Amino acid sequence: MNAAIRAVTRAAIYEGWRVFGVYRGWEGLIMGDIKEFNSASVSNTIQRGGTILKTARSEEFRTPEGRAKAAANIKKFGLDALVVIGGNGSLAGAQVLAAEYDIPVIGLPGTIDNDLYGTDSTIGYDTALNTIMECVDKIRDTANSHDRIFFVEVMGRDAGFLTQNSAIAAGAEAAIIPEDQTDIDQLATFIGRGIRKSKNSSIVLVSEKDGGAMHYAERVRQEYPEYNVKVSILGHLQRGGSPTAYDRILASRLGVASIEALKEGQRNIMVGIKNDQIVYVPISRAIKMDKPIEKELINVLSILSI
Ligand code: F6P
Repeated sequence: MNAAIRAVTRAAIYEGWRVFGVYRGWEGLIMGDIKEFNSASVSNTIQRGGTILKTARSEEFRTPEGRAKAAANIKKFGLDALVVIGGNGSLAGAQVLAAEYDIPVIGLPGTIDNDLYGTDSTIGYDTALNTIMECVDKIRDTANSHDRIFFVEVMGRDAGFLTQNSAIAAGAEAAIIPEDQTDIDQLATFIGRGIRKSKNSSIVLVSEKDGGAMHYAERVRQEYPEYNVKVSILGHLQRGGSPTAYDRILASRLGVASIEALKEGQRNIMVGIKNDQIVYVPISRAIKMDKPIEKELINVLSILSI
């Protein structure tokens, strides 16, 4: 997030434009919590987790009255355009505001969930993926030493990208993701494969949706009491920490591209990355279209976990 804020700020100043930082997202736009930024405002931030602008979930922005206050502040501070960094909720808000008040908006995909259509990766996803992989590496020491099955719960809201890919990266035995509900019973399939018999321990990564790891652990305790089952919920560990090089570079490229897009007169688009090339996607598509998980990823895990 900070790498993106830094890139937007500096690329705009490079063009001779003035830049204002809006604190606490839509909430700050409503309250007028807005400060002018210079190049030094974003010094020493690229390596930091979280966001120097802070963030908030705003109920008031969901109301027409809230958005009217936000629009009044856009006028008061003389803002000609907004660059909005965030996930589905933030970009959906941007779309509504743009439609109601005719303000040019450029979205940058910022979420660990990687669930925005039209971009191969979102800012924060790679960092979270690496964090999960490192945590699972550590959990495996206990799983192995004690011959246990671990159900490790991974964030991602409705999407299984973090779960599926961290399972591959950490060499997990299985991943249970929302997108693969075609399997009638993923747990029974996993147990049925007899993984537990051929290995000392097993690690199953489970997406947080629909009861998450607790749900599956409880089922195993009841249906297969012979197994020693543990649960680990990684929680907000996954949302923090210094970003990976990939995320810093991605955020820097997307941030610069957002200013290029504004220069070109683009509006109401999200800047994304496809096959390592910058792309523009209408915000309406980015937030509404389903982003499928490649079947190949599901295959890779099941082949490699025998
Ligand atoms: O959308 C990003 C995300 O980290 C999800 O993966 C997770 O479900 C949610 O946000 C957590 O949000 P909060 O910190 O508000 O509980």
